[in-house]
This record gives sequence, structure tokens and C-alpha cells, in this order.
Amino acid sequence: MIVTTDARAAREWTMRLGASRRIALVPTMGALHEGHLSLVRRAHELADEVVVSIFVNPTQFAPTEDLARYPKPIEDDLAALRHEGVAMVFNPAVDTIYPSGFSTFIDPPKVALPLDGIIRPGHFRGVCTVVMKLFQIIPASVAVFGQKDYQQSLVVAAMVQDLNVPILLVVAETVREADGLAMSSRNRYLSVDERARAICLSRALNAARASFDSGERNVAMIESAMMRELRVGKSDGVDQVDYAVVRDHETLEPLETIRDSAVALVAARIGATRLIDNVILVRDR
Ligand code: PAJ
Repeated sequence: MIVTTDARAAREWTMRLGASRRIALVPTMGALHEGHLSLVRRAHELADEVVVSIFVNPTQFAPTEDLARYPKPIEDDLAALRHEGVAMVFNPAVDTIYPSGFSTFIDPPKVALPLDGIIRPGHFRGVCTVVMKLFQIIPASVAVFGQKDYQQSLVVAAMVQDLNVPILLVVAETVREADGLAMSSRNRYLSVDERARAICLSRALNAARASFDSGERNVAMIESAMMRELRVGKSDGVDQVDYAVVRDHETLEPLETIRDSAVALVAARIGATRLIDNVILVRDR
């Protein structure tokens, strides 16, 4: 497995191999877990060789967020990727991606405006900018993203479409812990008590799914079922709800009634940790 911090080396390697082999890129911020590794396995199904980028992107964190404490277990990450048969890891330094004088950013698409677009101003501008740069540095045929970050996957898909980026985007299902908690690098911040309370997010989504499956189509009813499970402020609940909503699954615009399908999304804080999760509501699933 090639490990490089050098953008030119990463690009040349990809161009050379990409001439005869199909290459898939899995962008990550490291602190890898089974969710990330499931993307790598999906990438192997879609392409001949898999490239993983590990870069904790400062431009997608607000000054108040967890950039400084974001975990960086690089040796563990490399061992896991070696085990998965990854061909190259691109692990650049911050000044490789953002050298002094860097000043060009992507203005994100409309789907970046609601939800995390409101709660994390500038977040998707940073995501779009770094993802676009990664697509230039590693000109792969396919990129695999996770449904776990549902709005991010829609934002990147819209950017790829709007800016004619020649890459196929594949979105892979969310991998969960045995009790339903969506895997996340941020789960390692949780204390034992917080970890127990974190189950409220997937419970809320299960409640949304159960309500939808029993025939409920009124969004307000489904959203209140979600809120009940989040138990905000209770000793066994989350500390704060950023949103617990049912939205149009393509535009994330609000709905009153669900026609065929929708997406339920939740973002909540437990102690100092912010967790997100979602489930697509569609008949016959
Ligand atoms: P990161 O949070 O490291 O996630 C990298 C990829 O793994 C994303 O596509 C995310 O949706 C996916 N992922 C995370 N948890 C998952 C889970 N439990 N199941 C399936 N997939 C999961 O998302 C980012 O990094 C960054 O914003 C990035 C796109 C790399 C740009 O900096």
C-alpha cells in the first residue's frame, strides 16, 4: 500500500494506474471504523483499485467545533486500510491542501442551505471545497460516500452534477453498532453514560420508520414521535436537539404530508458531542 502526503505523487499515481484500471476514491477524515471500511469494501466491488484519503479538513469546522480534539490514530487507520487491500492512501498535511495564499472556495448548492447548513454555517463550503480538491488530486472514476451524512451526500451529488465533475458518486448504507447507534468517529468522545443516551437517535429514527410503516403520512405526527424518543433534557435522553425532522429526500425541503418517500433526519447533542443520523422512509422496505 502506497502512503503519500504529496498531492503531485498522488495525482501522478492515479493518472498512471487510471489509464488501465478503474479507480475508486473513499474520502475520509480518518479515525476509521466499520462504517468507513464498509465504504472501502463497496469501492472494491465498484473498481479495480481503491484509494482512501485521510484529511481532517479544517475549513469544514467552525472555530467553536471539535477540530482540535478530532482523533488522529493514523497508524491504526493505515493498518486497517492495509488489511482491506487499499492501493493508496493520500494523507496530506494541512498546508498541502491549503498553502498560504489559498483563497478559492466552492459556493455550495441549494441543498446545503437547510439543517446543517443553518446549524453549521460554512460547513458545506469547506466540504465542497475539499471534496472538489480531492477529486482533482485523485481523478478516480468512482467516489463512495456514506448515507450516514445524508445531507453531505446530496450536497456532493449536486456539486458533481452542477460543475460537470467526471466522477460517479455512490452512496453506501449506514453501518450501525449492535444496538443501532450509527458508527461515527465522534462516538469515541462519548462517556459510558453518554454512549447509553446516544441510542436515542436511532430509537427516534426507528419510531419514525414504525410510524410511517403503520401508515402515518402526516409529517408533524412523525416528528413528534421522534421527539418523544429523544427525551431531551431527561437523564436517559439527549441534551439538545438541533433538528428532528422529516424532509423531502432529494431537496430536504419541509413537507406537510409524505407522498411516496421522505427522509427522517436527526441531529442532537449529548454532552459536548454532536451526533447525526437519518433513515429513508419508503414503502416496502
Ligand atoms: P468522515 O466523517 O470521516 O466520513 C467519511 C465517509 O464515511 C463519509 O462519506 C461518511 O458518510 C462515511 N461514514 C461515516 N460513518 C458511516 C457509517 N456509520 N456508515 C457508513 N458510512 C459512514 O464525511 C467526512 O469524513 C468529510 O466530510 C469528508 C467527506 C471526508 C470531507 O472532508
